[in-house]
Amino acid sequence: MKYDFAVIGAGPAGYVAAKKAASAGLKVVMVEKKKLGGVCLNEGCVPSKTLLQAAKTYHHAKHGSIFGVEAGSLSFDFGKAHAHKNSVMDRMRDGIAGLMKKHKVEVIEGEATLSKGSSFTVNGETHEADNILLCTGSSPTIPPIPGIEADHIVDSTGILNIDTLPKNLVIVGGGVIGCEFACVYASVGVPVTVLEAMPEICPNLDSEIAAILRKELEKKGVTFQLGAKVESFEGKSVHFTLDGESKNMDADLVLVATGRRPNVSGLGLEEIGLDFDPRGGVKVDNRGATNLPGLWAAGDVTGQAWLAHAASRMAEVVVHNINGQKDQMRHDTMPAVVYTSPEVAVVGLTKEEAIDRGFKVKTGKIPMAINARYIAENPGEEGMCKVVLDADTNRLIGVHMVGGACSEMIFGATAMLETELREEEIAEIVFPHPTTSEIMKDVFMAVR
Ligand code: NAI
Repeated sequence: MKYDFAVIGAGPAGYVAAKKAASAGLKVVMVEKKKLGGVCLNEGCVPSKTLLQAAKTYHHAKHGSIFGVEAGSLSFDFGKAHAHKNSVMDRMRDGIAGLMKKHKVEVIEGEATLSKGSSFTVNGETHEADNILLCTGSSPTIPPIPGIEADHIVDSTGILNIDTLPKNLVIVGGGVIGCEFACVYASVGVPVTVLEAMPEICPNLDSEIAAILRKELEKKGVTFQLGAKVESFEGKSVHFTLDGESKNMDADLVLVATGRRPNVSGLGLEEIGLDFDPRGGVKVDNRGATNLPGLWAAGDVTGQAWLAHAASRMAEVVVHNINGQKDQMRHDTMPAVVYTSPEVAVVGLTKEEAIDRGFKVKTGKIPMAINARYIAENPGEEGMCKVVLDADTNRLIGVHMVGGACSEMIFGATAMLETELREEEIAEIVFPHPTTSEIMKDVFMAVR
C-alpha cells in the first residue's frame, strides 16, 4: 500500500502526528506493536498519576483533622486503586482508537521494520510512504548490577502491575520516577527507602527545589540515602556503599528507576543508514528531520526530552514541516513536572544553567507560604517559587516551583517564556485572587 504519511509508534508523538496529518488531508497509517497510547498511557504518565491520586486521597483523609475531618477507621485497597487505573487507561485507549477512526487513520497492529527508500514492512507486507515518522518511545534502563534479574526487582513498567502493597519498598534512583513511586507507597504507609547515587535527588532540578521536595517526601516517611551506590542484590538483601562503607538492607520489593533508553533496536535502523546512537537516540534537527530524506523522528526515541508533551509538540512540528509550514522545536521553553505531593513544576533555565550559557542573571524567590490560598490548602507544607531573568533585557528565562498542585500553574510561566515577556510586561498581568498562581506575580517583588 502507498501512503502519504506513516507513523511508527502510537504514543503521544504518534497519535498526535497521525491525527494532525490526517486532518490536513493526508492518507495516514499508524503502526503499533503493543497498545495504543504508548508508554505515557500504558506504562507511564496516566497509570502512575492515577495511583498518585489514590495515594493522595488516602493521605488527605488520614491527615484531614486540621480541616475538622476525622476519618475514623480508614483503609486503603490498592487493588481498587489499580482497577480505577485500568479503567482510566481503557477509556483513554478507546478515545485514541475513536479519534483515529474519526480522522480515517488506518491503524495496523504489528511490528514495523524500516527499509531503504521510504518503505516499511509490517506483518510480512511492505508499504511505502512519502514521509515516515519514527516515534517508538523508550524503555527503562536496567543497570548491570549482579542479582538484578530477581523476581522481586521490577522496573517502572513492572511495578504498575503489582496491586498488593509490599512490606517495604527500596527504590534504586531518586529521579522523577523514583520520587513519584516513593510518594505513592509512602503516602499509604509502606516504608520506602530511596538509594540515589548523586548528592541530591532529581539532579536535573534546581538544587534548592529538589531539597524541598526531598524534605517533604521525608515527612511522608521516605528515607533517602544520598550518594549510595548499589553493588549487588542477594536474595532479598540489597548491598550498597555509602561514604565508602558497605551497607545492607532487606527489600520486599525493589524498583529500579535509573533512567530510560530510546527504543531503536529491531527497526532496521543500521541497515538503512540512519544516524542514531543506541543510548542517545535518533539524531534530528529542530524540525525533527533525520539524516535520511522523508524520515523524521519525534519523542523519546530522539533522546531529547523524555516527556509526553514534548513528544506531542515534536510530532506537531514534523507534520507542519511536511505540510510546508515553517515550524521548529524549542526545548528551552518545555515545561516539566514531578507529580509528587507536593508537585514540582519547572520551565526554562536554572540560575546555574543561565550563567553557564553566558547570561548575566537576576533572580527572585519567595516561599509559597506567603500565599493565602496555599497555606489554606496545604497546611504545614513547604513550597517555593523561583524566577531567573536575563539581567540585560529583563526577559524571564526560568521558573522553578515546588508546592501544592503547581503543575497547574506552569503553563502560565511557559506562555511567558514562549512569548519572551519581560519583567515589566509580566507586572501588567492580572492574576485572580485568591489563587496560588499569584505567587508568580509576587515573586517579582523579590527579584534582585
Ligand atoms: P532520571 O534520569 O530522572 O533519574 C534517575 C536517577 O537514578 C538519577 O538521579 C541518577 O543519579 C540515579 N541513578 C542512576 N543509576 C543509579 C544507581 N546505579 N544507583 C543509584 N542511583 C542511580 O530517570 P527516571 O526517574 O528513571 O525517569 C526516566 C525519564 O522519564 C526521565 O527523563 C524523566 O524526566 C522521565 N519521566 C518524566 C515524568 C514526568 O514528567 N513527570 C515521569 C516519569 C518519567
